[in-house]
Amino acid sequence: MCGIVGYTGPQSAVTPLIEGLRRLEYRGYDSAGIALGTSGKLYVEKRAGKLNNLEQALGADLPTVHSGIGHTRWATHGGPTDRNAHPHLDNEGKLAVIHNGIIENYAELRTLLEGRGHKFSSDTDTESVAHLLSDLRKSHNGDLPAAMREAVASLRGSFTLLAIHADAPETIVGVRRNSPLVLGLGDGENYLASDVAAFIQYTKRAVELGQDEVVTITPTSYSITDLAGNSKKAKEYEITWDASAAEKGGFTHFMLKEIFEQPKAVADTLIGRLKDKKIQLDELNLSSREIKDIDKVVVLACGTAFHAGLIAKYAIEKWAKVPVEVELASEFRYRDPIVNKNTLVLAISQSGETMDTLMALRHAKSLGARILAICNTNSSTIPRESDAVLYTHAGPEIAVASTKAFLTQVAATYLIGLYLAQQRGVMKDGEVAEAFEQLQELPGKIEQVLETVEPLRELTRTFAAATSVLFLGRNVGFPVALEGALKLKELAYMHAEGFAGGELKHGPIALIEEGTPVIAIMPAGAEHALDEKMASNIQEVKARGANVIVIAEEGQVVTGATHVIRLPKAPAMMQPLLATVPLQVFAYEMAVTRGNDVDQPRNLAKSVTVE
Ligand code: G6P
Repeated sequence: MCGIVGYTGPQSAVTPLIEGLRRLEYRGYDSAGIALGTSGKLYVEKRAGKLNNLEQALGADLPTVHSGIGHTRWATHGGPTDRNAHPHLDNEGKLAVIHNGIIENYAELRTLLEGRGHKFSSDTDTESVAHLLSDLRKSHNGDLPAAMREAVASLRGSFTLLAIHADAPETIVGVRRNSPLVLGLGDGENYLASDVAAFIQYTKRAVELGQDEVVTITPTSYSITDLAGNSKKAKEYEITWDASAAEKGGFTHFMLKEIFEQPKAVADTLIGRLKDKKIQLDELNLSSREIKDIDKVVVLACGTAFHAGLIAKYAIEKWAKVPVEVELASEFRYRDPIVNKNTLVLAISQSGETMDTLMALRHAKSLGARILAICNTNSSTIPRESDAVLYTHAGPEIAVASTKAFLTQVAATYLIGLYLAQQRGVMKDGEVAEAFEQLQELPGKIEQVLETVEPLRELTRTFAAATSVLFLGRNVGFPVALEGALKLKELAYMHAEGFAGGELKHGPIALIEEGTPVIAIMPAGAEHALDEKMASNIQEVKARGANVIVIAEEGQVVTGATHVIRLPKAPAMMQPLLATVPLQVFAYEMAVTRGNDVDQPRNLAKSVTVE
């Protein structure tokens, strides 16, 4: 995590740097800093806390300088203080470095460099790179790219690094290993950033940078080499989304805007996917033989994407009759999973940069599995390292708590389930087309749900002081319960847990006290055969004093509820895409009621690029 931006060109650098950091704040917001390319000594300012603190510190007497680097941090090594904020400098104050990732061998480097007389002024892993680069630059007669190549060869871990030196301030040098870095090509100006969002308002021409590639930019040129100094070919691409997509557009928070974008996001994910009763997923690139040979699907993901995977299991197993395992990417990576060439791995990630998912994907690939990424971010690392990618087309998701990405991930996995079912001959074309039509009705139904969420605001006031909120669901409603609880934890900082309704009596019921809010997701799978079981669970918690909020379909009989939230009727398999929406709104409203920062909840980051 951490957001990185570098600029060189005719503008006063502070403007694109601060604007870029604002758009990258989703990657971390513990502290922020910039180094401007003044000659002599670099001008550096950094502050703990959000970007506003840095902006206030910059003041009016800022030098007009045309290059610089900026950083917004999610702390790993060293607390979120002014001194640990990036950039980090060499002892002469002439070379500045910013970093995203972790330098695993920083301690030994630090000992080595302190032994050579370098004085450290932070607790970070990053500062050793500034001192190391300073020494290497001298031994390479001032050649910063050459110094960077040599430095990187001795680093372990994951990193994107940018460096600037006061002796040639119009030049910025960057490198990436397992962390993102993109080059933005402007007219007489160039950018380097963690994400295209940082420079989208200035240019739509971008270049992908590969693993262990060193990039050097000036206002009018760029060059890319490998660590041995060999030139590498650049792969230029056009950014397709508009800068306005990353604006709030009249909503008070990005999260609310993204919740309301869900009907369109789901529709966009489905567009063009059915032709002549056949699911169109050509990008999967699998021959009919390979599809028939798949004997297992393994879903790898983290956080909200993991919950999308849990829902996918119900759908893919029901439709395609292929066993599906869903695993937290961080756990899968460090065990001995049974995976081979007949395993189809679905790596689900909104950002396409989550390190845990990336490492799990590589592990599965090394075992021979075929990897299909389900991703929302074009040309990010996870799709690039996968055999195939299915993009979700949700548009940029800025709020840290994921909403529209989740719904589109579920929709994308449903497409895969139907595609496998059709290609393997498990479902007839007519059945597949019917399920697809049910999917296509969802955007309109999500719209209806959004029209009825207003009372949830009042509800959050009633429960704002609760110490714990429990979520119950069965079948596809179970992952929805997990997602509802995760949203509430992330946004409202309340203790929240999701449980399978059937598990309640095996332990969790002991948590119920007089007044405990319990949110029960009623529409359950197997075409509602489980609804009566949920009804019993509602009675069980109510009998022990719970305040039960029930999410139920129109017309469903509900007894024992303090509040009922109604959803349009839909087949049970489609209900997760509806039932999740009020839970997102509930968490959003609870965060507002409790005065929390909705778009940037404490301690979190949207894209977690450390393991
Ligand atoms: C972080 C975010 C979560 C997200 C998870 C996976 O933890 O805070 O909201 O679900 O990463 O992110 P991905 O980009 O891989 O979907």
